[in-house]
Amino acid sequence: MLETAERSKQDFARGVLEGLAQEPPAIAARWLYDDAGSALFDDITDLPEYYPTRTEIGILRDRRDEIAAAVGPGRSVIDYGAGSLTKTPLLIEAVKPAVYVPVDISGPFLRDSAAALGERFPDLPIHPVEADFTRAFTLPAEVSRHRRLGFFPGSTIGNFVPESAVDLLRSFRTTLGTGALLLIGFDRLKDERRLVAAYDDAAGTTAAFNRNLLERMNRDLGADVDVEAFAHEARWNERMARIEMHLVARRATAFMVAGHHFHFEAGETIHTENSHKYTLHSARLLLLSGGWTPLQEWSDANDDFSLILARSEAERFAP
Ligand code: AVI
Repeated sequence: MLETAERSKQDFARGVLEGLAQEPPAIAARWLYDDAGSALFDDITDLPEYYPTRTEIGILRDRRDEIAAAVGPGRSVIDYGAGSLTKTPLLIEAVKPAVYVPVDISGPFLRDSAAALGERFPDLPIHPVEADFTRAFTLPAEVSRHRRLGFFPGSTIGNFVPESAVDLLRSFRTTLGTGALLLIGFDRLKDERRLVAAYDDAAGTTAAFNRNLLERMNRDLGADVDVEAFAHEARWNERMARIEMHLVARRATAFMVAGHHFHFEAGETIHTENSHKYTLHSARLLLLSGGWTPLQEWSDANDDFSLILARSEAERFAP
């Protein structure tokens, strides 16, 4: 059996090589999040330009009673954003669940966050599930007696292209079952300058987060990328209603990864992330496409961010 760390390096190598072989080159955003990348993302959430995290927390705090009334107590909460020690406690305090199920692909991270929440809510049964939430999985037996609420905060849905976002919502539906509720965060469409600033901050933290992908390739895969030869760019794609992160070659540059040679001319890019932005209508349509009927919405005063509560209805095939 391969050690987990070795296996994840092999997965990373495969993801990088497949991504760089695409035309235009695009490496999946999940590879931005090694330990260094996750720490940089935490820093991003505190930046003055990056409004989503604090806005969503504000909605959870300000609309807590309405959310509690719409959801009702005694559900099992399945937390697909496991580990947010700011958002999850607000939800738990509001909806008073019977059982809490944090879900994450990383076992150590999951254990740490479950332990921290256990200290904060000693009477709440916590059943962590180590799983890749992009695929349907089986819930622990303890959950089956209670009505379910899925929680998917952070506008992480925006990091999936619409086709994959629909697949993801459908797999939530398979896991949570008919009649379940889902509370999901959407970042709203807004002024392009504010969006670009949120993904290209003055302190350069998002640039460091993006370029950490190249550093990670050097660290973990023995690549020889000249990181300084690439600049961070946050690009608004109007047609797709999304911010794209790119690594743009400042000059012609070449490197080796795992025995493969790559060459970039000045101006060529590696596309590293999409962050789709939604209107209330497009968010509702996405949810419906994924098998979830929107019930209620809560937004901040500027309509910068929305939490939507939706229910999975029984499949109907007509009209
Ligand atoms: C995790 N996700 C919701 C963030 C976003 O806003 O799309 C990732 C991020 N990338 C750059 N800044 C933040």
